[in-house]
Amino acid sequence: MEKRLQELKEEVLQKIKATLNSKELNEVRVAYLGKKGPITDLLKGMGKLSPEERPKMGALVNEMRQKVTEVLEEHAEKLEQQAIAEQLASEAIDVTLPGRTVRIGNRHPLSRVVEEIEDLFMGMGYEVAEGPEVERDYYNFEALNLPKGHPARDMQDTFYISEEILLRTHTSPVQARTMEKKEGANVRIICPGKVFRRDSDDATHSHQFMQIEGLVVAEGIRMSDLKGTLDLFAKKMFGQDREIRLRPSFFPFTEPSVEMDISCFKCGGSGCNVCKQTGWIEVLGGGMVHPNVLEKAGYDSTKVTGFAFGMGVERIAMLKYGVDDIRHFYTNDVRFLSQFQETEA
Ligand code: PHE
Repeated sequence: MEKRLQELKEEVLQKIKATLNSKELNEVRVAYLGKKGPITDLLKGMGKLSPEERPKMGALVNEMRQKVTEVLEEHAEKLEQQAIAEQLASEAIDVTLPGRTVRIGNRHPLSRVVEEIEDLFMGMGYEVAEGPEVERDYYNFEALNLPKGHPARDMQDTFYISEEILLRTHTSPVQARTMEKKEGANVRIICPGKVFRRDSDDATHSHQFMQIEGLVVAEGIRMSDLKGTLDLFAKKMFGQDREIRLRPSFFPFTEPSVEMDISCFKCGGSGCNVCKQTGWIEVLGGGMVHPNVLEKAGYDSTKVTGFAFGMGVERIAMLKYGVDDIRHFYTNDVRFLSQFQETEA
């Protein structure tokens, strides 16, 4: 019996060492150490032994079982290490490969200018108002003191969808719509958006461009309010030492009307190529809202007054960033657009 035990031990240990994975190892475990295995059989056979032999054999079987279990555990551990090593090897990444750079986009320069202006005016209590690009003749012209057949309409010829429907030529119709809706006289809005004109495209003209306009209507609004507001705007957008200059102008929807210039930010006023040697750069138009416009919107123009101003966003961006051709804004050329990468997060 002792011999049989020895043989069995050799056999199991060999089988254990021959297994290549935990599944095979488990099969060996069940086959030899399980309830139906030869070791259990041996233990069961102990009853037949003489009382003197029994403890000796018992000790031998136990010793063997212990040894086998020990080897089995060692081997299991080894197999597991192997499996992990294999998995790691198969999943290994070559960290020395150069990564693919993720190209981060940036805001379009026009959006940037619009947002900067919106921020400034929202800080002064203005609301941002928007309206349709396909507009009614009434809001684009008639409500703004430009009746049908008025010669000033020629300044803003546009694309017509029908007799009464057109592509808006400015964002002022948003102002007309807002005034009409507002209950009580207290309007303070800034209106950005796309506008359209029948123009031949060149370095400074585009049949589609962007405007941003402001409107304030309330009791007691005066020309000096407009001037102060524009002065603040000029300094915020073009630098604290900008001066502004208002020149008389004409718009059908404002009276009096002005054109605002800023002192040249390049030469400071002495004359250079940016200001065409004049020291001043024309930036926007504005004025006191015409009484006819107020009346059309349902206000009593003897009690309520207002100011409005409007500018081309492209022009502001061209001045601010030194862009020499308006068409750059629309061609989606990344070589142009990527120059407006913002550093702040
Ligand atoms: N809407 C005018 C334009 O497009 C600009 C403007 C707005 C002028 C408000 C005066 C007041 O030319």
